[in-house]
Order: sequence, then C-alpha cells, then structure tokens
Amino acid sequence: MAYERTGRGKQTPVVLLHGFCEDSRMWAEWMPFLPDRPYVCIDLPGFGQSDPVVPVSMEYMADAVAAVLDQLKLGPCLLVGHSMGGYVALAFAERYPDRLAGLCMFHSHPFADTAERKEARLKSVSFIEQNGHILYVRQMIPQLFAYDYSKGYPAEVNRLIYHASQYAPEAITAALHAMRNRPDRAGVLRDLSCPVLLLIGKLDTAVPFQQSLEMTELPRQASVEIFPTVGHMGMFTAVRETARAFRDFLLHFGL
Ligand code: MLT
Repeated sequence: MAYERTGRGKQTPVVLLHGFCEDSRMWAEWMPFLPDRPYVCIDLPGFGQSDPVVPVSMEYMADAVAAVLDQLKLGPCLLVGHSMGGYVALAFAERYPDRLAGLCMFHSHPFADTAERKEARLKSVSFIEQNGHILYVRQMIPQLFAYDYSKGYPAEVNRLIYHASQYAPEAITAALHAMRNRPDRAGVLRDLSCPVLLLIGKLDTAVPFQQSLEMTELPRQASVEIFPTVGHMGMFTAVRETARAFRDFLLHFGL
C-alpha cells in the first residue's frame, strides 16, 4: 500500500480516498485550498503505486486503509472518499466505526449497483479483456467530466488518462467486480454517529442527482452541499467551492 503523509498539527487527520481509475495524485489541485493539518493520501489496491490485489472487494480495501492507519499509528480519522473511495469509506465505517471521526462523501453514495449498472460493469470487464484498458480509460475518464469537460479541462482529463493507463488491467477489472459486488450500505450511513458531509454535483453523470437526494435523508448529522453546475469531478472543476464546503464542515462540527 502506497500513501503520502502531508501537513502538520495535532488535529484529527484527514484521509483521502480516490475514486475508480484514479490515484492519490488526483488530490494535488484540491489540497492547497484546505487548511494546514495532517493529511494522508492513500493509493487504493491496484491504483497509483499500490500493488494490485485480485480479486478485491470494498471490504478488503477498507482493511487496507485500516492497515495504513495502523502503520502510521493514527487514532480516529476523517475520511474523504471520492465516488468509489466513498464506497470504501462506508465499508471502513461499517468495520471500524470507532476509528471514524467524520466522513465526507465526495460525489458518492451508499447504495448498491442497480441491475443495469451491474450489467454495465460486466460489459466494461469484457471491453477491457477484448480491447485493453487503455482504450477503456480513454473513453471512460472524459465521461466522468461529462458536463464540466465541455467547459474545457483537457489537461486534467489527459493527465488522469495517462495515470490510469499505467495501472494493471487486472486491477481495473478487479475493482469493477468489487463495485458490482458491494452491498447496499444505506444503513451504515444512517447509523453513523459522526458528522457527515455530502458533496453533490447536480450534473454528475456517475452518481445520478436523484440518488444523491435520497442519500441526504440518511445521516443523523450532516452538511449537504449541492453544486448546481458541477459534475463528478468537483475537486478539479469547482476546486475553491468544494474546498470551501469542506472547510466550513470542519469548522461547523469542530473537527
Ligand atoms: C468512480 O468515480 O469511482 C466511479 O464512477 C464509481 C462507480 O462507477 O460507481
């Protein structure tokens, strides 16, 4: 497991978990807008510099995150999960509720895949097996930016594609199976005793807005921020606004 530890201070550490076909480098543009405090950016198994694990599961990834925190001897943390990173964060919350001081679901949700989505995962696996993962990420990553991309983020898109082209194809297909197999964790989000921040892009094509709205009813104590002109990649396309929301959340809940 690869990770980078940055920042200083005695505050609760913030642990950042990237999404599918991304790695810890995705946070580089967002982090300068966050307050100085301890941060850990983790590469989930198979992404960035972390070795692939095949097969893998959200639970395995959550245990891998816990292992990194053990290695660093960190107490309760604030987890920020982008999309698939949010699925991992909820698996972590289920297994280690006492180790969670706060949770930020960044363009993510707690629900299981729909039948349609499960089918699409298998199609993606076959596509990668037949055509290779480079063609796959070249098609998939611009879609994550869908709306925002049209506004012009070619440098960010190309950088993410370049990074993703370096992952092992088996790592990508293992993550697709893992997302397909993950259970519904709406109950985990509902039962969490720590504060939750929900960052929602109204134009998100990967997490439908309706699903995001359903999620907002779940947590006991939450800040909800809806960005009307943002898609799935607000850490690039609304860097100041999303960072401001995160800072407000820290202040509001005294984290
Ligand atoms: C991600 O960005 O991690 C993915 O879009 C999540 C998913 O496919 O469910």
